[in-house]
Amino acid sequence: MCELIFLMFFCTIMGKGKNKSEKFAEFDSFENTYDYHSETKGKWASIFGNTNPIVLELACGKGDYAIGLAKMNPDINYIGVDIKGNRLWKGAKICTEEGIQNVRFLRIEIDKLFEYFAKDEVFEMWITFPDPQPQKERKRLSSGRFLNVYRQVMPTTGIMNIKTDSDLFYESSLEQIAEDNLTLLENISDVYGTIPVPEFLQIQTFYEAIWLKMGKKIMYVKFVLGDVLSRETKKPKEING
Ligand SMILES: C[S@@+](CC[C@H](N)C(=O)[O-])C[C@H]1O[C@@H](n2cnc3c(N)ncnc32)[C@H](O)[C@@H]1O
Repeated sequence: MCELIFLMFFCTIMGKGKNKSEKFAEFDSFENTYDYHSETKGKWASIFGNTNPIVLELACGKGDYAIGLAKMNPDINYIGVDIKGNRLWKGAKICTEEGIQNVRFLRIEIDKLFEYFAKDEVFEMWITFPDPQPQKERKRLSSGRFLNVYRQVMPTTGIMNIKTDSDLFYESSLEQIAEDNLTLLENISDVYGTIPVPEFLQIQTFYEAIWLKMGKKIMYVKFVLGDVLSRETKKPKEING
């Protein structure tokens, strides 16, 4: 119960100030934002004005990880992807105010990445503190279905990074990696128990800060996307005939 009240308190703080529709209107007015109307496929190099590698933060919320990494790596371009415009608004505002040039924000369903990126246009991806989707494996962002979506826009050598507080998401990601026989590059079951904590893992997202305050352990997995198409779990209605 205490945890829930704490979470609601944080969510209230997150939404304070402008209301959702005001944020949506302002989101559209920023120069670093794109949505489902935007024709970006194959055009990201011209959008950024350079051919630097493109890294996505999926389910980025306010884009904390994209912004943190962008500050560390000015020669890499970052794009935060999320469906919630009022969360992306915050990241877009920070980048606009701080003059951060190598970050953009894209408001779309992650399932539709291939409509906004050409084949092999993406170099690397981060999935940061996604919903673990305990009931809906198909909606889990490291499920076979989603790995196949990522394969439409990233080469087989592309790198996936996952940072999560969820045992379920962590374990199911490792199971998917094993099932597809993918190359596991790093597997840290307690990021902040690692000494020293690598600088790129010290960036904290909005949700990460909440889970850390609750004493949760944070996990990190890095693997190569590979070229084998993953087996996809069928929708229940398909299974039932
Ligand atoms: C728990 S929040 C994490 C946000 C942020 N990464 C953080 O750590 O603060 C999960 C986010 O995933 C987004 N999301 C989940 N499924 C998505 C999908 N299929 N397409 C786009 N965004 C999605 C939600 O809108 C939400 O903002």
